[in-house]
Amino acid sequence: MCGIVGATSERRISEILLEGLKRLEYRGYDSAGLAVLSENGQIESLRRTGKVQELKDAVGEHPLGGTTGIAHTRWATHGGVTEANAHPHISNDCIAVVHNGIIENHSKLREKLRELGYEFRSDTDTEVICHLVHHEKQQHADLFDAVQAAVKQLDGAYGTVVMDCQDPGRLVVARSGSPLVIGLGIGENFVASDQLALLPVTRKFMYLEEGDMADITRTGVKVYDKSGSRIERAIHESDGQYDAGGKGNYRHFMLKEIHEQPSAVRNALEGRLVDGKVSGNAFGEGSMDVLKDIEHVQIVACGTSYHAGMVARYWLEALAGVSCNVEIASEFRYRQSHVHPNSLLVTISQSGETADTLAALRLSKELGYKGSLTICNVSTSSMVRESDLAYMTRAGTEIGVASTKAFTTQLVGLMMLVLALGQSRGLSGDKQQHIVGALKALPAKLEEALLLSDEIEALAPEFADKFHSLFLGRGSQYPIAMEGALKLKEISYIHAEAYAAGELKHGPLALIDAEMPVIVVAPNDELLEKLKSNVEEVRARGGIMYVFADKDAHFQGDASMRVINVSHCDELIAPIVYTIPLQLLSYFVAIIKGTDVDQPRNLAKSVTVE
Ligand code: M6R
Repeated sequence: MCGIVGATSERRISEILLEGLKRLEYRGYDSAGLAVLSENGQIESLRRTGKVQELKDAVGEHPLGGTTGIAHTRWATHGGVTEANAHPHISNDCIAVVHNGIIENHSKLREKLRELGYEFRSDTDTEVICHLVHHEKQQHADLFDAVQAAVKQLDGAYGTVVMDCQDPGRLVVARSGSPLVIGLGIGENFVASDQLALLPVTRKFMYLEEGDMADITRTGVKVYDKSGSRIERAIHESDGQYDAGGKGNYRHFMLKEIHEQPSAVRNALEGRLVDGKVSGNAFGEGSMDVLKDIEHVQIVACGTSYHAGMVARYWLEALAGVSCNVEIASEFRYRQSHVHPNSLLVTISQSGETADTLAALRLSKELGYKGSLTICNVSTSSMVRESDLAYMTRAGTEIGVASTKAFTTQLVGLMMLVLALGQSRGLSGDKQQHIVGALKALPAKLEEALLLSDEIEALAPEFADKFHSLFLGRGSQYPIAMEGALKLKEISYIHAEAYAAGELKHGPLALIDAEMPVIVVAPNDELLEKLKSNVEEVRARGGIMYVFADKDAHFQGDASMRVINVSHCDELIAPIVYTIPLQLLSYFVAIIKGTDVDQPRNLAKSVTVE
């Protein structure tokens, strides 16, 4: 979490830093700050609570003219959202630091530094870093050596950039547990927590590995690995496209991204189905050699990506005949799990940087998995780089914090995995054709689902005064109900819970009354009649329902039940199709509630702390 940008150049860099922060706002947006080294060798800093725009306005009023600088957009972990807790933190007006991650031994270090006479001005864990570097500079004349000595004392995760008023034109950076990328320019160099921040100034990037440090000046970059040896890291040319202002005619990125789903799914499928089969390299070169021996799949993910994994479990066991467990990454990484023979560890992640999921992937390498696969949207991410196999979802940059097109394209990737595993496990030709046909029909089905937009917008006001809601589904639609509930709570702040409809009578029925809308996902599948009985249970207790139903499911609307007809689709792709109306519902309810749809309170797009 949090975003970092740093630059050293011959030109003034405050505009570059601010533009970088704007692009990184998805990583945290409760406060922001920047510090530059002015021509007279002084550090000038501005920090503001709130969005990057607040900081931009402040810089507009007090222009900062330096050519070397660092900047940060924060998602609070230690210490509340205050200007004093915003980064950069500065020691003795000379050592300025920005940091992503969490320093776990900060209390101990704080005590030690206090004894050495340092005064703390914030409640953050980060402030220990700037004082430590300042202290180490008394023993090591060179900034790099001082930073190296300081980070050796840190436990926890950090991506950090240090600037020294006595060493103009130089930035020293260190990475352990929080990603950093160096951007290479001509007569100028940059660093950021994500290359998106630097796309306006360079297309050449060098990714730091775990434990790396780098010494960045205008004219060169020297990288050192965790043993302290000089090392060359590969330079990558990025074709990344990112248009920060690119909402088009849409009011929010989320709405734009919801509407992009048919084309995102087309991209996710393009070139990957050849002669009715999954192409050999959809999961990377040589992937079929790994996949052919797989007998068990362990999926690990967080949030929306976890819900995608839960849908895949229904598919994998029913279609490919492969047993499958799905687990939340923050649980998986801290328990002793049993590894089945010939198991594939599958991580699912939009960003490819989610700390818990990445930690689970790293842990799996010690546990005897046959291989690892990530289903991911960011080709340059740590998960893609560290997994044996990768399926790129090709959803395009997702800016809205609420995940939409990332989810539906993940489901496409997971269905491809079902096909690939099924192919080597005797899935019949007919079944394979059925899956391929359903996938090919999917973009058009999503377009049809988007046509429900006006109808859903019209019913959103009925949710405006509600505090609680319940989502119901059965089978592979149960995770879709969970995803619908997550979307609603995330952006409208209405409490939403999801239940497998068959579980209602085991407790949640007690909640039913006319004040809690019940949203039901009802495609025309083999569980439809069972679901109808559950609907009757709600009706009998005075519940008010909104049923998203296949038009052939024959639900009769009345005062207690609004039926929204979804056009018929194949059962296999129904979880993907029914996701769309639930996304639209949460979006329009959030609009009525007047929340910050793209950047809902307390959240961040990329969760790089555990
Ligand atoms: O980047 P990831 O897919 O690993 O992110 C996982 C979750 O943080 C993410 O899906 C989160 O739940 C979304 N904000 C939900 O809309």
